[in-house]
Amino acid sequence: MREERSGKRDEGGGPKARRGKRRGVLVTGASGFIGSHLVGVLLERGWRVVGLDAFTSDYEATFKWNAIEESLQHDCFRLVKGDVRDAELLRSIFAEEHISDVYHLAGKVGVRESLDAEAEYYQVNVHGTETLLQEIVFAGVNRILFTSSSSVYGRSLSLPIKENALLAPINPYGESKLKAELLCNTFGQKHGIDARVVRLFTAYGPGARPDMGISTFVQRMEEGIPLTILGDGKAQRDFTYIADIVQGILCVGMASKAPHAVNVGSGRTISINGLIEILSQATGITPLIEYVEAHPFDVATTHAEITAAASFGYRPKVMISEGISRYVSWVRRQMKESTPGMAA
Ligand SMILES: NC(=O)c1ccc[n+]([C@@H]2O[C@H](COP(=O)([O-])OP(=O)(O)OC[C@H]3O[C@@H](n4cnc5c(N)ncnc54)[C@H](O)[C@@H]3O)[C@@H](O)[C@H]2O)c1
Repeated sequence: MREERSGKRDEGGGPKARRGKRRGVLVTGASGFIGSHLVGVLLERGWRVVGLDAFTSDYEATFKWNAIEESLQHDCFRLVKGDVRDAELLRSIFAEEHISDVYHLAGKVGVRESLDAEAEYYQVNVHGTETLLQEIVFAGVNRILFTSSSSVYGRSLSLPIKENALLAPINPYGESKLKAELLCNTFGQKHGIDARVVRLFTAYGPGARPDMGISTFVQRMEEGIPLTILGDGKAQRDFTYIADIVQGILCVGMASKAPHAVNVGSGRTISINGLIEILSQATGITPLIEYVEAHPFDVATTHAEITAAASFGYRPKVMISEGISRYVSWVRRQMKESTPGMAA
């Protein structure tokens, strides 16, 4: 069974009219952190968008409804609540809509969580991608962009990490993403579909998943709870502001041609200790920090080499201090709105 919410159906010709009907884009994982931002930008650019999301319980469903709330008011948006592994549902969406491009973001995320739920990660990330690819072929849709992860590289020895680096994931999440990438490649070769992969480096910004590191840090700082850091805080991360992540996805997705896999990151790194300093400046709060033993499945450095994405016009614009300041303002607005008597 599926549930739907939508504005008025759009039947008019658009910027990309084909056979008299505006082309549509399917976004899976449309209510998630990155998916909801991507949907917003596609609508702004004049696309008709169908969003598919199972509203899984990894984090609160209200968070996901809030993320997609504005898009739901849009005439050119239709949201289908359902599972990407449901072949029948996918077939009906492709039969009803005039989908030309698919952005596949639905999946189970999180490195540490994947260690205790390997089968589930495989089911959703690998089997889900395979089901979608099969239905894309059946429907004659030509293009799919899959959002993979920097986790496919594992502990890369050469930095910054280029797309042709060794692919050696060290956790079930990265492994499931790599298997899904390979399926995209196989389907592309076998069925002649244009299957593209973007390998995303850690995204952050307004709407960030509550389970993400930065979200937890800010939440704890606001509540006066000490921060727990795994390791000595010197691990380096390539944090990428959400608007830049979406820009990168679309630069690669909309290019007339693209290589199989392209990194989308900021191309810069910061240590976890450096990040906390910036968070401290943005919040005006100096947190207490507890350093505990590093997790064996965490990598020391993620750092994207972004020359390939740059060749499609990708230019990450938001520096970490600016991005964090926007994120902290967003968190504080949310807190105000959810505290009785504090909303404006
Ligand atoms: N956020 C990051 O830093 C990051 C980094 C690398 C890669 N990625 C990838 O980008 C994508 C989006 O990540 P996000 O941070 O927005 O995560 P998210 O959890 O906020 O979004 C994923 C969405 O997929 C939906 N979903 C899960 N299983 C589904 C299923 N079986 N059928 C339909 N919908 C389902 C969830 O309900 C959720 O809304 C994921 O594929 C993730 O692996 C994210």
